Amino acid sequence: MNERRSSQWYDGTDRNAYLHRAWMRRGIPADAFDRPQIAIANTASDLTPCNSHLDEVAQSVKQGVYEAGGIPLNLPVVSLGETQVRPTAMLWRNMAAMAIEEMLRANPIDGVVLLGGCDKTIPSLLMAAASVDIPAVVVPGGPMLNGTFRGVPLGCGTDVWKLSEEVRAGTLSEKLFTRSESSMIRSRGHCNTMGTASTMGLLAEALGTTIPGIAGTPAPDSRLLEGAHATGRLVVEMVAEGRTPSTTITAASFHNAIVTLAAIGGSTNAVVHLLAIAGRLGIDLTLEDFDRIAADVPLLVNLQPAGRYLMEDFFRAGGLLAVLDQVRDLLDPTAITVTGRPLVEYLDDQEIWDADVISPRSEPLLDAAGIAVLRGNLAPTGAIIKPAAASPELLEHRGRAVVFDSVEDLHARIDDPDLDVDASSVLVLRGCGPRGYPGMPEVANMPLPRKLLEQGVRDMVRICDGRMSGTAYGTVVLHVSPEAAAGGPLGLVQDGDEILLDVGGRRIELLVPDEELQRRRVPGATSDAFAAPVRGWERLYVDHVLQADTGADLDFLVGASGPDVARESH
Ligand code: FES
Repeated sequence: MNERRSSQWYDGTDRNAYLHRAWMRRGIPADAFDRPQIAIANTASDLTPCNSHLDEVAQSVKQGVYEAGGIPLNLPVVSLGETQVRPTAMLWRNMAAMAIEEMLRANPIDGVVLLGGCDKTIPSLLMAAASVDIPAVVVPGGPMLNGTFRGVPLGCGTDVWKLSEEVRAGTLSEKLFTRSESSMIRSRGHCNTMGTASTMGLLAEALGTTIPGIAGTPAPDSRLLEGAHATGRLVVEMVAEGRTPSTTITAASFHNAIVTLAAIGGSTNAVVHLLAIAGRLGIDLTLEDFDRIAADVPLLVNLQPAGRYLMEDFFRAGGLLAVLDQVRDLLDPTAITVTGRPLVEYLDDQEIWDADVISPRSEPLLDAAGIAVLRGNLAPTGAIIKPAAASPELLEHRGRAVVFDSVEDLHARIDDPDLDVDASSVLVLRGCGPRGYPGMPEVANMPLPRKLLEQGVRDMVRICDGRMSGTAYGTVVLHVSPEAAAGGPLGLVQDGDEILLDVGGRRIELLVPDEELQRRRVPGATSDAFAAPVRGWERLYVDHVLQADTGADLDFLVGASGPDVARESH
């Protein structure tokens, strides 16, 4: 049995111990302070509708904690609603992670259950827990049920893009478009496509940070509460055994997460989140690891945005463990989970119940589904593309650049009938990286020019230093690093420059002579478009955020700092 961290607050007969105990009493028996104190870091919020059901999930966790002899303590933490928070929830991911980290460290707790769901909530919770390094288990809040509209399934996120493009192309009325709103979001839970929330819930399990088998359980499914209950019991056991993130999340865990990301066809956003979580643990994960580890991983999951089905179908078809069983030989068998047992031990007896949703290894949807990492004079420290979401005929492409200096510039000109653009052009959007916007918004999947949409064009090569929604699709090169606002060469591109995209060769090149690029490198040439916040979190963020190729964390938050509190105030 490990010495409980909370005993530093509660044990003894001195004045400080008295103060710590007395204010917590309020009906709590004296022997409660001799038991493991378990925080439930809860991102439930009415303004994060994807997570609003987590208060009920917390009740099940509480019951489990009590049963195992612990004391559960509700700890509401910063919550980020992807669709509501402006300018982009990613601006606040590091703030949420920092606030959660500090509250976990500052309070008398021995372990924590992390309740998340909507895109940035699980990443921020895991970053925080990794830094504090106390026993921690994630309960992913789970996806919402399938939407339906006009008799066909409707995937939230993905179908918003599709339907809105149809409105712009004149093939869907605005009245019908508006009517589809209430059909899309049918229940509690996060987005039901293989977007960022679904991806991060599943990757939390692949990393070994959940009880095996829980990720992907639909939010209204009572098995989620059963899993939450079991998690409450487990975390008490973990405290007794001293099982912390640094002892369970290793390079092998990230290997398995990267294999999983490819096999499920997960969101590109997972790259920055996994890099940031690894950074908090001092694990040397690089962009190249994503390309190398996933090079031979087949795509087995037929979910929107690239495929057909939704998360409810995925869970019904066997869920994550059925997928992992198919790629078992590609997993690192040494990676363990929060239970203390290897992840691969949970893959026995798994079955695929619907091979249309989860393909067997013998019939993959794609032979190689990994994220490709591109380099070249346009992205010296890297850019990524998800070939599975791209048009195959555009994966090798040469075209003239049409440059937009900001999101506002894009919106102002993209539908201009006089815009000099054709289907072979390469749309370039800059000023959208971690610093430039700031917050690295999900704008890389730029809308296509209306005049090309009307001609039937449905995809073009697009290049951006921002991110792309996990529910979006297209031939989009994103996370270009360094970003234009950090002096990256994306800031030097001019209209008409030729750009070469060669995904097979992993290249992204601006076909302009070096001397000409040097000549263009006038200090501040494009900086008018970049945000320059003067106060608050945004100021701190812009001064300290790292580039996307290392996870876009703040420079002073990288690395674990442990559970110790430096000073006591009383
Ligand atoms: Fe919350 Fe999509 S908006 S998960």
